[in-house]
Formats: sequence, structure tokens, C-alpha cells
Amino acid sequence: MMLAATVTGLKLKNPMMLAAGIMGTTGGSLKRAAQAGAGAVVTKSIGIAPKAGHSNPSMVDVDCGYLNAMGLPNPSYKNFQEEIDKAKESEVPVIASIFGGSADEFSEIAGALCADAFELNVSCPHARGYGAEIGTDPKLVEEITHAVKSAVNAPVWVKLTPNVTDIKSIGLAAQRGGADAVVAINTVRGMAIDIESGYPILGNKFGGISGRAIKPVAIKCVYDLYEALDIPVIGVGGISDWKDAVEFIMAGARAVQIGSAVGENIDIFSDISSCMDAFLTEKEWTLDDIYGMAHEV
Ligand code: FUM
Repeated sequence: MMLAATVTGLKLKNPMMLAAGIMGTTGGSLKRAAQAGAGAVVTKSIGIAPKAGHSNPSMVDVDCGYLNAMGLPNPSYKNFQEEIDKAKESEVPVIASIFGGSADEFSEIAGALCADAFELNVSCPHARGYGAEIGTDPKLVEEITHAVKSAVNAPVWVKLTPNVTDIKSIGLAAQRGGADAVVAINTVRGMAIDIESGYPILGNKFGGISGRAIKPVAIKCVYDLYEALDIPVIGVGGISDWKDAVEFIMAGARAVQIGSAVGENIDIFSDISSCMDAFLTEKEWTLDDIYGMAHEV
């Protein structure tokens, strides 16, 4: 296998990670994704206090992907280290996705958890006082990133929202705050309406779209961030097969994360790894050769 990668100092056997929000609430399910071949796993976003999330329905299949408004349900960081420790038994890096309403909350959570890296969720598109309400303000993104960097001794990644005019300005703010990498993208804000009743389908009325529909949006964000930043970009958004993963790496992603497609096929990590490996071998390319290749033209 030619797929080993190092991302912000973390050694991955392959560059395909489990994205936040999918199978990430228990150590057992994180471990299951690692055993299925993920190079690293990211937890569900964890906050300061237990949170039930938005009312149901909180997820709907919209043909081209999924629309969700889970509302950041989580057991709180005070009840989560055990799950991270269990996931670590899989011997792949375990990244804690965390969210808060202020720099103090973010650093309290990060400072209390022991993980291989932290992914700051400043991008959930439908949680009042959290996520994208913070991540659309470059000053807050810089301040929060700086606070977490000062509180931990592990790489800090910042997950960005595409629901902005210029994602580069937010990526640059994260970089100024000391981020080791950015992760692009979180879900794209969206909505679905039940035509029998005329009501919005989601309990929260609107939510975020993931899956195939958002891949071209994510590719463009990764491409732009690669040009603007000095720190690595981790790509996520609509990866369903090995060709999608190759496309992200060519756009400038050092590694990728897979979310929605894992729900349909847990073996997607090993499927992508073996096909990507065969493709690189046939082309006589390495991962480094294709990294950012789309910028060479
Ligand atoms: O609602 C949720 O838990 C989703 C979070 C996110 O999109 O970051």
C-alpha cells in the first residue's frame, strides 16, 4: 500500500477518515469504523453540557443526499473520555470534534479531553449560539482557535462552513489563530417541505445537506483554501467512492473524511483504499504526486 499519510503530525495508514457526526457517539462504533479500514476517526461533536438536540424528524433522505438538523445532541465532555479511550483501542488516531458558544467553553472542553487532535466545530448550520453562528465571524474563529491552541498539546483543526461569501477569509482567521489544519466543508444549509401538509419536514424546519449533492461545492472550497492557506486542508463533502477521494486530493486535500456514504457501506474505507492504491500503481503516481495536482494547470 502506498497510501500512508502524515497529517499535522498524525500518522495515518491511509488518508480516509470517518467524518464527525456519523457513528461517532460511542467508542464501540468509532472502533467499528477503524476496524473497517478508516485511517482515523472523528467523534460526534461534544459540548459543555448534555444536549438532547432538535425535535424529530432530524434527518431526511432528499435523493441527492441527506438533510439533517440533529441539533448537536451529545452527552457532554464530562461523560465522553471513556468513549475516546475505547476508540483508541483501535490504534488509529482519534480526533475529538468539539463545539462551544465561546472561546472559554471551547478551551474548557478541549483542555479536559485527551485526544490525538481536536476538530473545532464552528460550522454546524442550524444550532443557535453555536457552529456557523460563530464560524462566520473571522474574529471569533481566530480567538477560539487561539484559545484552544493554548489549552491543549495536540493538533487543532478547524471545520469550516461553506455558508459564507468567502471561505478563504475564515480559513485565514483559523490560520492566524494557530490552527494546524482546516477541514472543509460542513453541511450546506437547506430545507425540504412536505407537499401533502405544506409543512417543513425537519423538526428544526431547516438543516444542512450532506452527501453527493455537495461534492462540487466542497471541491471548490478545498481548491480555494489550498491556494490561500499555508496549513493543510482536509476535504469532506459527498465522497462516495475512490474517484471522489482522488478528486479531493487533486484539489488540494491532504486527507479526506467520509460521512454520509458510511451509512450505506461501512467498508467504504477499505474499498476506497484498495481502488486508490490500484489507480496510483497503474499511473505510477504517489499520493504526493496527486496532492494539489489540479493547481498545476
Ligand atoms: O446537528 C448536528 O449535530 C450537526 C452538526 C454539524 O453539522 O456540525
